[in-house]
Amino acid sequence: MNTAVIRWIRGPVLRAATRDPFRIHEAVQVGAKRLLGEVIRMQGDEITVQLFEDGTGLRPGDPVSGQGMPLSARLGPGLLGNIFDGLLRSLGGEGRDFLVPGWLDPPRTLFHFKPLVEPGRILKAGDSFATVQPVNREGKEQLCLIPPDRAGEVITIVAEGERDDDETVCTLRDGRGETLEIAMSHPWPVRRPRPVAQRLPAGPPLLTGQRILDTLFPVARGGKAMVPGGFGTGKTVLLETIAKWCDAEVIIYLGCGERGNEMAGVLDEFPHLEDPRSGRPLMERMVVIANTSNMPVAAREASVYTGVTVAEYFRDQGLKVALMADSTSRWAEALREVSGRLGELPGEAGYPAYLSTRLAEFYERAARVITLSGKNGSLTVMGAVSPPSSDFSEPVTIQTKRYVRNFWALDRKRAQARFYPAIDPIASYSEDADGLAAWWSQEGAPAWAEHRRRFLTLLEEQTRLERMARILGKDALPPGQQLTLLCAELINDGFLRQSAFSVKDRHASPRKQTRMMGLLIRFMDRAAEAVAGGSALERIVALPVLRRLQRMGEEIGDEELERFDALDALLESDFGTLAAPDGEEKKT
Ligand SMILES: Nc1ncnc2c1ncn2[C@@H]1O[C@H](COP(=O)(O)OP(=O)(O)OP(=O)(O)O)[C@@H](O)[C@H]1O
Ligand SMILES: [Mg+2]
Repeated sequence: MNTAVIRWIRGPVLRAATRDPFRIHEAVQVGAKRLLGEVIRMQGDEITVQLFEDGTGLRPGDPVSGQGMPLSARLGPGLLGNIFDGLLRSLGGEGRDFLVPGWLDPPRTLFHFKPLVEPGRILKAGDSFATVQPVNREGKEQLCLIPPDRAGEVITIVAEGERDDDETVCTLRDGRGETLEIAMSHPWPVRRPRPVAQRLPAGPPLLTGQRILDTLFPVARGGKAMVPGGFGTGKTVLLETIAKWCDAEVIIYLGCGERGNEMAGVLDEFPHLEDPRSGRPLMERMVVIANTSNMPVAAREASVYTGVTVAEYFRDQGLKVALMADSTSRWAEALREVSGRLGELPGEAGYPAYLSTRLAEFYERAARVITLSGKNGSLTVMGAVSPPSSDFSEPVTIQTKRYVRNFWALDRKRAQARFYPAIDPIASYSEDADGLAAWWSQEGAPAWAEHRRRFLTLLEEQTRLERMARILGKDALPPGQQLTLLCAELINDGFLRQSAFSVKDRHASPRKQTRMMGLLIRFMDRAAEAVAGGSALERIVALPVLRRLQRMGEEIGDEELERFDALDALLESDFGTLAAPDGEEKKT
């Protein structure tokens, strides 16, 4: 075992003298309390270590011992349904530590193990060899995987029964005739992406149930999105809403460096939520990693990697996984603080020059893949960014933008007007959208791409016309342009606005979204015809159907889409009255 002796310590960083062959990123334990840390630099006879735990009380002369392996997450059946800190140590409830080395003497948790293979079978890296379910607790059935760096012929495998997740349940003989012991859990270095057989182009959409996302700025499965937004603009509520409603099979929710009360929504609310699809507790298919601002900064730096490693582990079981990170800015700040302690040359706004590389490495791990065992899996990553003073030209926003394909910009003015979700349709974009038109066509919405383009064009027009109206006055605009403004407002109120707290509207299925979009497009077309035919704009504004369209999201739930037929009929009859002379209309 490598050992060293502390020479110097400042907050989360220490330097220690050694003659032993430590490696970069090797995990270490420090002092009598065996606090967890990681080697981040080696120079001459000295290693530099970042400490993941509070080092108060440590002093020069205290011992550092190497663990002979990089900081690793223990990946296994105990993750789902549990809440961990940034080092994957259980925060209450069931579970145990899943980071090695770490928490000493962990409590034992039993799992129901059921083998899928028999002796003689050849197993490749990443193959599944058993299913497992928690004992005494209902939970999602999971697969036990051969670690990505192991393979061989099954020599022994235990019978179905209750087992501890780290006891040997299977032995393999590898190509060199050596015996490998396999448990339900295996460690994996958090900074190393788990290998896959093949990376695939982005796939079908990850449906979020949020209209402004699915319809205007959709993210593909395996895609990457950022949610930049100033203080209080709704980043956390948006990520939580996606966690609750998106169609991923496993959710990894990473609260990174936010205040404890920011995590309260997740920690208090999520354990009681029902999964809308299965009716089972949502937490059964979720892992929450909560690394709040009062926890040590280096652990925050690591938490992003543990989160994405856990997510990849479920992807490797052939699942659709979504990871939400709130907020990556706090993670970047941790990076900056550690870099400052190291005396590195600061770059823009004090962030280290490698901020960009680190962001790239994180978002790179989002992908749709064929796993080592030939399954389809995906990991979609969404990260909140908190630019100080909503200034989108600050380094974390700018650098993140280079690596994501979807930009969901939260707008302070919209949030102040309580227009939620406060996503700015002009500043936001989706590079995945073009690739998703085929999916919508297959789902019975061949006009999706065209309708989406019309919505976006109209919203852009609105910005331009509003600027003109501010100078000239709205009434000075020709009727056609006034109509454009009316329709743009309708799209905002009737389509983009969606309350996370409305039971009927917090989630909108693709069919509901297409029905709504179709109605709005029809309204736009009929209104344009009417104006061209000489109808006064006031008469269109007065049509009862307009009010109904503004509220249709909240009025019609996913299970009663046939009620849109009545709105269709009302729209046609309302515009029918416009065609009639003024006097006729009043009689009806
Ligand atoms: N989709 C929504 N529907 C209804 N209300 C919302 C929505 N999004 C945000 N809000 C309101 O705005 C408040 C602030 O939202 P949130 O905490 O998500 O902001 P934030 O950007 O995460 O803030 P911070 O910068 O402090 O992290 C919420 O408490 C809620 O009242
Ligand atoms: Mg927040």
